[in-house]
Order: sequence, then C-alpha cells, then structure tokens
Amino acid sequence: MKPARLILTLFTAVTLSAPVASAAPETGGHHQTLRWAAPKGFHIGSAVAGGGHHENQPYPDPFTSDRPYRRVLAAEFSSVSPENQMKWEYIHPERGRYNFGTADAIVRFAQQNRQVVRGHTLLWHSQNPEWLEKGTFTKDELRAILREHITTVVGRYRGRIQQWDVANEIFTDTGALRTADNIWIRELGPGIVADAFRWAHQADPKAKLFFNDYNVESVNAKSDAYYALIKDLRAAGVPVHGFSAQGHLSLDYGFPDDLERNLKRFAGLGLQTALTEVDVRMTLPASGVPTEAQLRQQADYYQRMLTACLNVSSCRSFTIWGFVDKYSWVPVFFQGQGAATVMWDDFSRKPAYDALRSTLAARR
Ligand code: G3I
Repeated sequence: MKPARLILTLFTAVTLSAPVASAAPETGGHHQTLRWAAPKGFHIGSAVAGGGHHENQPYPDPFTSDRPYRRVLAAEFSSVSPENQMKWEYIHPERGRYNFGTADAIVRFAQQNRQVVRGHTLLWHSQNPEWLEKGTFTKDELRAILREHITTVVGRYRGRIQQWDVANEIFTDTGALRTADNIWIRELGPGIVADAFRWAHQADPKAKLFFNDYNVESVNAKSDAYYALIKDLRAAGVPVHGFSAQGHLSLDYGFPDDLERNLKRFAGLGLQTALTEVDVRMTLPASGVPTEAQLRQQADYYQRMLTACLNVSSCRSFTIWGFVDKYSWVPVFFQGQGAATVMWDDFSRKPAYDALRSTLAARR
C-alpha cells in the first residue's frame, strides 16, 4: 500500500475508533437515551449512515465525517448495522481486493462504545459490484467467489458480529424465489442459500444467522415462503438462527396489525426474530414539514412495531434504519416523501423518539 494511503488508513482507523463522549448533544446525560431506557439484554440499534453518498445528497460520509452524528450514535444505541459499508459493492469492489477500512472502523467503534453489530449483508440481488454482476464465470468459479467472500468477510469479524443478514430479500412479494435478479440463485440454484448459511457458520460459529426482508411484517405469501423454507432448512440441519422483518413502513399504508402474531410463528420454529430497518416514511406537505397528525401517526407506528417485538421473547433486537432525517435513504428513493426517522436534522427528538423511549422504559 502506498505510504500516503497507509497514513490515511491509519489516521482513519485511529480517529474513527476513539470512544465517543457518552452524552448526546441535547440529552443532558445518558439517563435519557434509548439504550439506557431499554430492558437488559434488549438491543436498540441504528443503521450507520454512509458507505458512499447518494447521487443528489452530496454530503460527506456521515460516520467518517460528522462528529455530532457519531456522538448520538454512541449515546443512543446498543447495536449498530452498517447501512452500506459491508455490502459487496463497497467491501469487495474488485475481484481479489477488499475494502475493509470503514467496516473495521464501525466494528471498532461498536466495541469502544459497548455496542453489538448486525452484519449486512452476504447474499443479495442488489449492490453487487460490476465485476461480479457482469463477469463471465463458470458455476464452479461463481460458487468459489461466494464462498471466499463469506469466509473472508465473516471470518474477519469472527466473534464480533452478533447477527448476520446472510440472505437478504430472496423472495418477491408473491413469495417466488428471485431466480431472475439474484445472481446467486439464478446461476447456482436455490441450494446456494443453504451453502451461504453453512459457510457463514463455519467462519463464525458465534454469529446468529438471519434471513432478512421487507414486506414480511404481516402473515402473507412472502412471509409464508420464508416460513416454509426455514422449516425445511432447519429440518435439514442448516444453521439458520433467525428471521427478521425490516419494518420499512409508510403512513400511506395501514399498520401490519398481525406483526406480533407473525413474529411469534417464526419464534415457534425455534428462531430468534428481529426488526432490522425500521423507519416510517410519509408524503410531505408542500412545506416539506410534517403535520402534527402525521408525526402522531408516525410515533404510533414506531411504538406498535417496538411493542410487537417486546411482546415476543425471541425478539431482542430492534434497529431503526437511521436516526436523523438528513441522512435517511427515503428522500433519495421516494420523491416527495421523507421525515422517516426519529430525529430532526439538528438531532432534536421527534414524537417517534419519545414513543420509543417511553415504550422501552415501561419494560425495564
Ligand atoms: O456511493 C455511490 C456514489 O459514489 C455514486 O456516485 C452514486 C451513484 O449512484 O452511488 C452511491 O452509492 C449509493 C449507495 O446507497 C451509497 O450511498 C447508491 O447510489 C444508492 O443506491 C445506495 O442506496 C442504498 C440502498 O439500500 C440501495 O438499495 C441506501 O443507502 C440504503 O439505505 C438502502 O438500504 C436497503 C437495505 O440495505 C436492504 N433493505 C432495504 C433498504 C432500503 O433500500
């Protein structure tokens, strides 16, 4: 590695892993944070914003550049989940070259701040690098590439990742396997999913290995497909330990009232469950500022998702997909929508934050 790059890498490693003062900017002390309010052993988490900037949101990478952001991340959460920094396109940008710098810094940050880490993600149809998606590989080569990636990445963080999203979004909303857009399933067949779990387990026997998806909060064709698949895989001795619903909700749709019942049936398979990417988006008024009614409904949706998780003994992990509106993925992907997280751009708290904290505190 060139000297300049080495110095930058060392500088990044040192500055990013330093422990962060526990009090968040406006909390006045740790006694009023989400992680303090949470029951013992229950992890309240957040995605770690970054891993590249969105096309029309050219802010610098939040985790590596925004110190107030990092202070709140450390003070409020007991679990962190890299938003993009462990995905293929970011961590394995070229064949044979890995980019571990930021993922290493996030794992170090977590250790310094007594947080657990959710690894995200190993087998997915999205955010794969071009060398992989457009490569011309034999099936054996492709299988070896996936095995090497999982062994290398999961092995690197062995003992330091609490849960891995091994397979992400492998079914369509109708409950059909993504045999077209998921390179691994398309080229290697459905059996590759079980292999991914086996390889991840070999690389880190302590990590709990999850399926993760959106639109599976309710009992529906998609969550039914996961239920049937996981039942079969576990009967075959495949090390599947968890099932998680992402929890990306919108005020434009109803609340998934059967979320608790759905989580309970997966718990009935002997699985851990989790909510992993919770946010509640809304169509904003022309002013761009949510109405009081929207903020109340948003708080209600957050509170009901958390309550469902707290009511299921196997659900001990609840992660929001970013905690401050300015770094949220939602406005980038949903024109005219936003305000999906629990804090305003200055890290002041929205009603949704207070709803989470009071719900947690009531269970202490
Ligand atoms: O960093 C590059 C930048 O260099 C480049 O110029 C630009 C060109 O498009 O792309 C940038 O990468 C962006 C990346 O985020 C890093 O910021 C991609 O455009 C953008 O598509 C990508 O969006 C991520 C999205 O997944 C992709 O599907 C969001 O940040 C991330 O929050 C979101 O997270 C997913 C979960 O992983 C899985 N569940 C759904 C959830 C929401 O889609």
